[in-house]
Amino acid sequence: MSDPMFSDLKLVQPDAILGLSAAFRADTREDKIDLGVGVFRTPDNRTPVMQAVADAQNQLVENETTKVYLPPEGAPGFGEAIVDLLFGAGHPAAKDARLAAIQTPGGCGALRIGAELLARSGAKSIHVGEPTWANHKPLMQAAGLEVIALPFYNKEKCAIDFDDFMGGVERLGKDNVLLLHGCCHNPTGADLTNAQIDAIFDAAESQGFAVFIDTAYHGFGESLDADAYMAREAARRLPSALIAYSCSKNFGLYRERAGALIAVGRDAEHAKIMVSHMTSLARGNYSMPPAHGGLIVSKILHDDSLRAAWKNELDHMRGAVIGNRELLVKTAREMQLGDRLDFITRQRGMFSMLPVTKEQTDVFREKHGVYMTGNGRINMCGVNTSNVEAIVTAYKDVAV
Ligand code: LMR
Repeated sequence: MSDPMFSDLKLVQPDAILGLSAAFRADTREDKIDLGVGVFRTPDNRTPVMQAVADAQNQLVENETTKVYLPPEGAPGFGEAIVDLLFGAGHPAAKDARLAAIQTPGGCGALRIGAELLARSGAKSIHVGEPTWANHKPLMQAAGLEVIALPFYNKEKCAIDFDDFMGGVERLGKDNVLLLHGCCHNPTGADLTNAQIDAIFDAAESQGFAVFIDTAYHGFGESLDADAYMAREAARRLPSALIAYSCSKNFGLYRERAGALIAVGRDAEHAKIMVSHMTSLARGNYSMPPAHGGLIVSKILHDDSLRAAWKNELDHMRGAVIGNRELLVKTAREMQLGDRLDFITRQRGMFSMLPVTKEQTDVFREKHGVYMTGNGRINMCGVNTSNVEAIVTAYKDVAV
């Protein structure tokens, strides 16, 4: 019997990042090295459950009495807690009740609902600095937005080309939207300075374009406060904005899919209106977010002792990644690579991008068992004392 509906479908290639994880798992070499998907890892290659998360989870499970639906805005107290965490209690926009958040299935859920809200508000496109996270494009396009690239990172110089980026930003007008990385740029690790962020918001104020900020690594760059600069300034200076937030990395809740979409409204009433659209878009998509991760985050952030323990663990994770950056650069210098990889200690968060071609990343993988995405992105969490020399040896063979 013929199949009229699905017969013309062609095989879709696996997602660039998730497909890499599958290829790594299938590789039987014992000395393979995973610098692919962005998850935290200990030196012995584990991604443990954070202790504060385990403690909150135990308390929740012990006291759980129902599995009834959450409302579309998510777990009780979740949105307020995330707003408080990102903006701080004294932020003027918080005092004016211009900030409101809903819980979403991960940062992806926030990006998708945010993109749909932009489309519903009349946006036809969204501008992104190149390169950007591989999933930004499909998420934005699924909401009907055309994705327009602006030059951002210069791969040869291993640094942001800010003048080129601003050249594009200065051409944006009131019908445009600019997607920004809140901190710990994925895939390059090259963050804007506060002065550069100020310059972008000067342009947003004078030209009237909207900003959509993706904050997926809050606390992994410098500190919870320093990493919030872009979000805080956006809410202080701009009439309105959208912020996607992920709890995957800073709470280690990857598979629980806990995130938030934060509306910055021009006043309390406008924030309420934005949230009403966000919850209606959620209802038409996944209805309501999964409960488990949101309940855990809300519990941790409302409990002083769990919150302090969580923050401590986050500080520790950040310190470990910074240590890995220093280790890689030091080893590269010791192995006669000079200052070639020094840029890695100037970058922040989980990632840096090696100045290599797609073909060279294939050689890294096939010949040396070193897995990184095709654009040369490496997850610094995967670097440790046992594998760092092998990584530098591979680099010297493939890229020098
Ligand atoms: C990454 O960039 O590796 C992570 O954000 C995981 C993902 O979903 O791509």
